[in-house]
Amino acid sequence: MADLGTYTKPLAYLGLITLASTALTFTRQATNFLRPSTLVKTYNPTHTNWALVTGATDGIGFGFAQELCARGFNVILHGRNAEKLQRRQRELQAEFPKAKLGIVVRDAQNITGDIDGVDGEVRAIIGAGALTVLINNVGGETRPSTLLKEYTFEEVQATVARNATFTIQICRVLAGLLEENAPGLVLNVSSVAAFGLPYISAYSATKGFVDSFTRSLRAEFGAEGKAVEVMGLRVAEVKTAGYDIKSNLFVPEARVLAGASLNRVGCGEEIVWAYFWHWLQGLSFDILPRWLMLKFAGMKLKAIRADMAAKAKSS
Ligand SMILES: NC(=O)c1ccc[n+]([C@@H]2O[C@H](COP(=O)([O-])OP(=O)(O)OC[C@H]3O[C@@H](n4cnc5c(N)ncnc54)[C@H](OP(=O)(O)O)[C@@H]3O)[C@@H](O)[C@H]2O)c1
Repeated sequence: MADLGTYTKPLAYLGLITLASTALTFTRQATNFLRPSTLVKTYNPTHTNWALVTGATDGIGFGFAQELCARGFNVILHGRNAEKLQRRQRELQAEFPKAKLGIVVRDAQNITGDIDGVDGEVRAIIGAGALTVLINNVGGETRPSTLLKEYTFEEVQATVARNATFTIQICRVLAGLLEENAPGLVLNVSSVAAFGLPYISAYSATKGFVDSFTRSLRAEFGAEGKAVEVMGLRVAEVKTAGYDIKSNLFVPEARVLAGASLNRVGCGEEIVWAYFWHWLQGLSFDILPRWLMLKFAGMKLKAIRADMAAKAKSS
Protein backbone atom coordinates (compact mmCIF):
# COMPACT_ATOMS: atom_id res chain seq x y z
CA MET A 1 0.00 0.00 0.00
CA ALA A 2 1.33 3.48 -0.83
CA ASP A 3 2.50 5.71 2.03
CA LEU A 4 0.03 8.59 2.77
CA GLY A 5 2.93 11.00 2.21
CA THR A 6 3.00 9.98 -1.46
CA TYR A 7 -0.23 11.98 -1.86
CA THR A 8 -0.02 14.65 0.82
CA LYS A 9 3.42 15.97 -0.20
CA PRO A 10 2.47 16.88 -3.81
CA LEU A 11 -0.79 18.37 -2.50
CA ALA A 12 1.11 20.45 0.05
CA TYR A 13 3.44 21.74 -2.69
CA LEU A 14 0.43 22.54 -4.90
CA GLY A 15 -1.14 24.43 -2.00
CA LEU A 16 2.08 26.38 -1.41
CA ILE A 17 2.43 27.24 -5.12
CA THR A 18 -1.22 28.42 -5.21
CA LEU A 19 -0.70 30.50 -2.06
CA ALA A 20 2.53 32.03 -3.41
CA SER A 21 0.96 32.85 -6.78
CA THR A 22 -2.11 34.42 -5.09
CA ALA A 23 0.15 36.49 -2.80
CA LEU A 24 2.21 37.56 -5.82
CA THR A 25 -0.91 38.61 -7.77
CA PHE A 26 -2.26 40.65 -4.85
CA THR A 27 1.14 42.27 -4.19
CA ARG A 28 1.47 43.20 -7.87
CA GLN A 29 -2.07 44.66 -7.85
CA ALA A 30 -1.35 46.56 -4.62
CA THR A 31 1.79 48.14 -6.13
CA ASN A 32 -0.44 49.74 -8.79
CA PHE A 33 -1.43 52.17 -6.07
CA LEU A 34 2.17 53.05 -5.15
CA ARG A 35 3.57 53.73 -8.63
CA PRO A 36 3.72 57.43 -9.56
CA SER A 37 1.46 58.44 -12.45
CA THR A 38 3.18 59.00 -15.80
CA LEU A 39 0.20 60.94 -17.21
CA VAL A 40 1.77 64.41 -17.35
CA LYS A 41 5.33 63.27 -18.14
CA THR A 42 4.20 61.13 -21.08
CA TYR A 43 1.06 62.83 -22.40
CA ASN A 44 1.44 66.49 -21.43
CA PRO A 45 5.12 67.32 -20.85
CA THR A 46 4.75 70.85 -22.28
CA HIS A 47 1.45 71.59 -20.48
CA THR A 48 -0.08 72.51 -23.85
CA ASN A 49 -1.74 69.23 -24.90
CA TRP A 50 -5.45 68.48 -25.06
CA ALA A 51 -7.69 65.78 -23.57
CA LEU A 52 -11.28 64.98 -24.56
CA VAL A 53 -13.68 63.65 -21.91
CA THR A 54 -17.04 62.14 -22.92
CA GLY A 55 -20.02 62.68 -20.62
CA ALA A 56 -18.21 65.62 -19.03
CA THR A 57 -21.12 67.75 -17.83
CA ASP A 58 -21.58 65.85 -14.58
CA GLY A 59 -20.33 63.20 -12.18
CA ILE A 60 -17.04 61.45 -12.84
CA GLY A 61 -16.72 63.06 -16.29
CA PHE A 62 -16.74 66.59 -14.87
CA GLY A 63 -14.32 65.34 -12.18
CA PHE A 64 -11.98 64.16 -14.98
CA ALA A 65 -12.20 67.58 -16.63
CA GLN A 66 -11.28 69.30 -13.33
CA GLU A 67 -8.40 66.92 -12.59
CA LEU A 68 -7.02 67.19 -16.14
CA CYS A 69 -7.06 71.01 -15.96
CA ALA A 70 -5.34 70.77 -12.58
CA ARG A 71 -2.60 68.71 -14.33
CA GLY A 72 -2.10 71.38 -17.01
CA PHE A 73 -4.19 69.90 -19.84
CA ASN A 74 -6.49 71.83 -22.14
CA VAL A 75 -9.82 70.02 -22.17
CA ILE A 76 -12.64 69.37 -24.63
CA LEU A 77 -15.91 68.58 -22.85
CA HIS A 78 -18.36 66.27 -24.58
CA GLY A 79 -22.06 66.15 -23.68
CA ARG A 80 -25.54 66.15 -25.17
CA ASN A 81 -26.81 69.45 -23.80
CA ALA A 82 -25.14 72.54 -25.32
CA GLU A 83 -26.42 74.88 -22.60
CA LYS A 84 -25.16 72.65 -19.77
CA LEU A 85 -21.83 72.21 -21.56
CA GLN A 86 -21.39 75.99 -21.81
CA ARG A 87 -22.26 76.38 -18.11
CA ARG A 88 -19.72 73.72 -17.14
CA GLN A 89 -17.14 75.35 -19.43
CA ARG A 90 -17.61 78.69 -17.62
CA GLU A 91 -17.28 76.98 -14.23
CA LEU A 92 -14.05 75.26 -15.29
CA GLN A 93 -12.65 78.47 -16.78
CA ALA A 94 -13.29 80.27 -13.48
CA GLU A 95 -11.48 77.51 -11.57
CA PHE A 96 -8.63 77.15 -14.11
CA PRO A 97 -8.17 80.50 -15.88
CA LYS A 98 -5.08 79.31 -17.81
CA ALA A 99 -6.78 76.25 -19.36
CA LYS A 100 -8.06 76.33 -22.94
CA LEU A 101 -11.48 74.67 -23.20
CA GLY A 102 -13.75 73.49 -25.96
CA ILE A 103 -17.03 71.63 -26.31
CA VAL A 104 -18.41 68.90 -28.56
CA VAL A 105 -22.14 68.17 -28.60
CA ARG A 106 -23.42 64.67 -29.49
CA ASP A 107 -26.19 62.56 -27.97
CA ALA A 108 -24.55 59.22 -27.19
CA GLN A 109 -27.94 57.48 -27.35
CA ASN A 110 -28.77 58.74 -30.85
CA ILE A 111 -25.61 58.14 -32.82
CA THR A 112 -25.60 58.69 -36.57
CA GLY A 113 -22.86 58.87 -39.18
CA ASP A 114 -22.59 62.52 -38.15
CA ILE A 115 -20.20 61.34 -35.40
CA ASP A 116 -17.50 61.30 -38.10
CA GLY A 117 -17.61 65.11 -37.91
CA VAL A 118 -16.11 65.01 -34.38
CA ASP A 119 -12.61 64.61 -35.88
CA GLY A 120 -12.95 67.94 -37.77
CA GLU A 121 -14.52 69.70 -34.78
CA VAL A 122 -11.71 68.56 -32.48
CA ARG A 123 -9.02 69.61 -35.00
CA ALA A 124 -10.66 73.05 -35.27
CA ILE A 125 -10.69 73.44 -31.45
CA ILE A 126 -7.07 72.35 -30.85
CA GLY A 127 -5.57 74.21 -33.86
CA ALA A 128 -1.83 73.61 -33.82
CA GLY A 129 -2.13 71.81 -30.46
CA ALA A 130 -2.17 68.05 -29.90
CA LEU A 131 -4.96 65.80 -28.63
CA THR A 132 -3.15 63.12 -26.63
CA VAL A 133 -5.83 61.81 -24.23
CA LEU A 134 -9.34 60.46 -24.81
CA ILE A 135 -11.42 59.48 -21.79
CA ASN A 136 -14.48 57.38 -22.61
CA ASN A 137 -16.53 58.11 -19.53
CA VAL A 138 -20.07 58.57 -20.84
CA GLY A 139 -22.33 55.83 -19.55
CA GLY A 140 -24.60 54.65 -16.81
CA GLU A 141 -27.79 52.70 -16.45
CA THR A 142 -30.88 53.90 -18.25
CA ARG A 143 -33.16 51.83 -15.92
CA PRO A 144 -31.34 50.86 -12.73
CA SER A 145 -32.35 47.70 -10.84
CA THR A 146 -34.80 46.46 -13.44
CA LEU A 147 -35.50 42.99 -14.80
CA LEU A 148 -34.53 42.65 -18.46
CA LYS A 149 -38.13 41.74 -19.40
CA GLU A 150 -39.29 45.08 -17.99
CA TYR A 151 -37.13 47.10 -20.41
CA THR A 152 -38.62 48.49 -23.59
CA PHE A 153 -36.89 48.02 -26.93
CA GLU A 154 -35.76 51.67 -26.83
CA GLU A 155 -34.33 51.35 -23.29
CA VAL A 156 -32.14 48.40 -24.24
CA GLN A 157 -30.91 50.24 -27.34
CA ALA A 158 -30.23 53.38 -25.27
CA THR A 159 -28.26 51.44 -22.62
CA VAL A 160 -26.08 49.77 -25.25
CA ALA A 161 -25.55 53.00 -27.22
CA ARG A 162 -24.72 55.15 -24.18
CA ASN A 163 -22.24 52.69 -22.69
CA ALA A 164 -20.83 50.69 -25.57
CA THR A 165 -21.55 51.94 -29.09
CA PHE A 166 -20.56 55.54 -28.45
CA THR A 167 -17.24 54.45 -26.93
CA ILE A 168 -16.26 52.32 -29.91
CA GLN A 169 -17.46 54.93 -32.45
CA ILE A 170 -15.63 57.89 -30.92
CA CYS A 171 -12.47 55.77 -30.62
CA ARG A 172 -12.81 54.91 -34.30
CA VAL A 173 -13.20 58.57 -35.24
CA LEU A 174 -10.32 59.87 -33.09
CA ALA A 175 -7.85 56.97 -33.40
CA GLY A 176 -6.09 58.59 -36.39
CA LEU A 177 -5.61 61.89 -34.54
CA LEU A 178 -4.29 60.11 -31.42
CA GLU A 179 -1.79 58.22 -33.62
CA GLU A 180 -0.68 61.50 -35.27
CA ASN A 181 -0.19 63.08 -31.84
CA ALA A 182 1.43 59.98 -30.25
CA PRO A 183 2.17 59.10 -27.56
CA GLY A 184 -1.56 58.94 -26.88
CA LEU A 185 -3.82 57.48 -24.23
CA VAL A 186 -7.36 56.09 -24.23
CA LEU A 187 -9.00 55.51 -20.84
CA ASN A 188 -12.25 53.51 -20.86
CA VAL A 189 -14.43 53.78 -17.76
CA SER A 190 -15.78 50.34 -16.85
CA SER A 191 -17.58 49.06 -13.78
CA VAL A 192 -17.72 46.32 -11.20
CA ALA A 193 -20.91 45.43 -13.13
CA ALA A 194 -18.65 43.86 -15.80
CA PHE A 195 -18.46 40.80 -13.51
CA GLY A 196 -22.08 40.12 -14.57
CA LEU A 197 -24.63 41.24 -11.99
CA PRO A 198 -28.38 40.60 -11.69
CA TYR A 199 -31.06 43.34 -12.07
CA ILE A 200 -28.66 45.36 -14.26
CA SER A 201 -28.04 42.74 -16.91
CA ALA A 202 -28.09 45.06 -19.94
CA TYR A 203 -25.74 47.56 -18.27
CA SER A 204 -23.49 44.73 -16.99
CA ALA A 205 -23.20 43.37 -20.51
CA THR A 206 -22.18 46.73 -21.95
CA LYS A 207 -19.37 47.05 -19.40
CA GLY A 208 -18.18 43.54 -20.34
CA PHE A 209 -18.14 44.83 -23.93
CA VAL A 210 -16.09 47.85 -22.84
CA ASP A 211 -13.52 45.60 -21.10
CA SER A 212 -13.18 43.36 -24.12
CA PHE A 213 -12.90 46.40 -26.42
CA THR A 214 -10.17 47.84 -24.16
CA ARG A 215 -8.12 44.66 -24.47
CA SER A 216 -8.56 44.30 -28.22
CA LEU A 217 -7.91 47.95 -29.12
CA ARG A 218 -4.83 47.96 -26.89
CA ALA A 219 -3.60 44.84 -28.69
CA GLU A 220 -4.37 46.39 -32.09
CA PHE A 221 -2.36 49.59 -31.47
CA GLY A 222 0.43 47.37 -30.10
CA ALA A 223 0.37 45.05 -33.12
CA GLU A 224 0.61 48.08 -35.44
CA GLY A 225 3.51 49.55 -33.43
CA LYS A 226 1.47 52.67 -32.56
CA ALA A 227 2.29 54.48 -29.31
CA VAL A 228 -1.32 54.72 -28.15
CA GLU A 229 -1.96 53.10 -24.78
CA VAL A 230 -5.46 51.84 -23.97
CA MET A 231 -6.42 51.19 -20.38
CA GLY A 232 -9.68 50.19 -18.69
CA LEU A 233 -10.75 51.61 -15.33
CA ARG A 234 -12.79 49.37 -13.06
CA VAL A 235 -15.08 51.41 -10.82
CA ALA A 236 -17.43 50.47 -7.97
CA GLU A 237 -19.82 52.86 -6.20
CA VAL A 238 -19.17 56.59 -6.63
CA LYS A 239 -21.37 59.45 -5.45
CA THR A 240 -22.50 61.25 -8.61
CA ALA A 241 -25.54 62.95 -10.10
CA GLY A 242 -26.46 59.62 -11.69
CA TYR A 243 -25.86 57.63 -8.46
CA ASP A 244 -26.79 59.95 -5.63
CA ILE A 245 -25.88 58.13 -2.41
CA LYS A 246 -23.98 59.19 0.72
CA SER A 247 -20.22 59.25 0.20
CA ASN A 248 -17.80 57.44 2.52
CA LEU A 249 -14.40 55.76 2.27
CA PHE A 250 -15.77 53.11 -0.10
CA VAL A 251 -18.04 55.53 -1.99
CA PRO A 252 -15.82 58.44 -3.08
CA GLU A 253 -16.92 61.74 -4.58
CA ALA A 254 -16.68 61.90 -8.39
CA ARG A 255 -13.58 64.10 -8.47
CA VAL A 256 -11.72 61.84 -6.02
CA LEU A 257 -12.42 58.86 -8.29
CA ALA A 258 -11.31 60.83 -11.37
CA GLY A 259 -8.05 61.88 -9.69
CA ALA A 260 -7.39 58.29 -8.56
CA SER A 261 -7.99 57.08 -12.14
CA LEU A 262 -5.43 59.50 -13.58
CA ASN A 263 -2.97 58.38 -10.90
CA ARG A 264 -3.15 54.80 -12.25
CA VAL A 265 -1.76 55.85 -15.68
CA GLY A 266 1.58 54.16 -16.26
CA CYS A 267 0.88 51.14 -14.04
CA GLY A 268 1.03 48.94 -17.16
CA GLU A 269 -2.22 47.02 -16.54
CA GLU A 270 -4.86 46.47 -19.25
CA ILE A 271 -7.71 46.99 -16.78
CA VAL A 272 -7.13 48.35 -13.31
CA TRP A 273 -9.17 49.26 -10.27
CA ALA A 274 -9.03 53.05 -10.26
CA TYR A 275 -9.44 53.59 -6.53
CA PHE A 276 -7.65 51.74 -3.71
CA TRP A 277 -10.72 51.10 -1.52
CA HIS A 278 -12.68 49.77 -4.50
CA TRP A 279 -9.79 47.39 -5.20
CA LEU A 280 -9.94 46.14 -1.61
CA GLN A 281 -13.69 45.57 -1.97
CA GLY A 282 -13.12 43.94 -5.37
CA LEU A 283 -10.74 41.37 -3.90
CA SER A 284 -13.84 39.58 -2.67
CA PHE A 285 -14.67 38.81 -6.33
CA ASP A 286 -11.33 36.99 -6.59
CA ILE A 287 -11.50 35.26 -3.21
CA LEU A 288 -15.16 34.35 -2.60
CA PRO A 289 -17.03 31.84 -4.75
CA ARG A 290 -19.12 33.52 -7.47
CA TRP A 291 -22.40 32.13 -6.12
CA LEU A 292 -21.74 33.83 -2.75
CA MET A 293 -20.80 37.17 -4.34
CA LEU A 294 -23.93 37.01 -6.47
CA LYS A 295 -26.00 36.35 -3.35
CA PHE A 296 -24.66 39.54 -1.69
CA ALA A 297 -24.90 41.62 -4.88
CA GLY A 298 -28.39 40.28 -5.60
CA MET A 299 -29.58 41.18 -2.08
CA LYS A 300 -28.26 44.72 -2.44
CA LEU A 301 -29.67 45.30 -5.92
CA LYS A 302 -33.01 43.77 -4.90
CA ALA A 303 -33.16 46.18 -1.93
CA ILE A 304 -32.46 49.13 -4.26
CA ARG A 305 -35.22 47.86 -6.54
CA ALA A 306 -37.70 47.64 -3.64
CA ASP A 307 -36.69 51.14 -2.48
CA MET A 308 -37.23 52.55 -5.98
CA ALA A 309 -40.63 50.86 -6.22
CA ALA A 310 -41.67 52.29 -2.82
CA LYS A 311 -40.55 55.79 -3.85
CA ALA A 312 -42.41 55.53 -7.17
CA LYS A 313 -45.57 54.43 -5.33
CA SER A 314 -45.47 57.31 -2.84
CA SER A 315 -44.76 60.01 -5.48
N1 LIG B 1 -21.45 56.42 -10.24
C1 LIG B 1 -21.12 55.16 -10.02
O1 LIG B 1 -21.33 54.61 -8.93
C2 LIG B 1 -20.43 54.37 -11.11
C3 LIG B 1 -20.01 53.07 -10.80
C4 LIG B 1 -19.35 52.33 -11.77
C5 LIG B 1 -19.14 52.87 -13.02
N2 LIG B 1 -19.58 54.11 -13.31
C6 LIG B 1 -19.36 54.61 -14.66
O2 LIG B 1 -18.79 55.90 -14.60
C7 LIG B 1 -19.19 56.66 -15.75
C8 LIG B 1 -19.75 58.00 -15.29
O3 LIG B 1 -20.86 57.72 -14.43
P1 LIG B 1 -21.47 58.86 -13.49
O4 LIG B 1 -22.07 58.16 -12.32
O5 LIG B 1 -20.48 59.94 -13.28
O6 LIG B 1 -22.67 59.37 -14.41
P2 LIG B 1 -23.57 60.69 -14.27
O7 LIG B 1 -23.30 61.40 -13.00
O8 LIG B 1 -24.95 60.26 -14.60
O9 LIG B 1 -23.00 61.57 -15.47
C9 LIG B 1 -23.06 61.06 -16.76
C10 LIG B 1 -22.51 62.05 -17.74
O10 LIG B 1 -22.74 61.51 -19.04
C11 LIG B 1 -23.59 62.39 -19.75
N3 LIG B 1 -24.55 61.67 -20.57
C12 LIG B 1 -25.48 60.78 -20.17
N4 LIG B 1 -26.17 60.31 -21.20
C13 LIG B 1 -25.66 60.94 -22.29
C14 LIG B 1 -25.96 60.89 -23.67
N5 LIG B 1 -26.95 60.14 -24.13
N6 LIG B 1 -25.25 61.66 -24.52
C15 LIG B 1 -24.24 62.45 -24.07
N7 LIG B 1 -23.92 62.56 -22.77
C16 LIG B 1 -24.63 61.81 -21.89
C17 LIG B 1 -24.34 63.17 -18.70
O11 LIG B 1 -24.85 64.33 -19.31
P3 LIG B 1 -26.15 65.12 -18.78
O12 LIG B 1 -25.58 66.10 -17.82
O13 LIG B 1 -26.72 65.72 -20.00
O14 LIG B 1 -27.04 64.08 -18.15
C18 LIG B 1 -23.22 63.39 -17.69
O15 LIG B 1 -22.35 64.38 -18.13
C19 LIG B 1 -20.18 55.79 -16.51
O16 LIG B 1 -19.52 55.12 -17.55
C20 LIG B 1 -20.65 54.78 -15.47
O17 LIG B 1 -21.06 53.58 -16.05
C21 LIG B 1 -20.21 54.87 -12.38
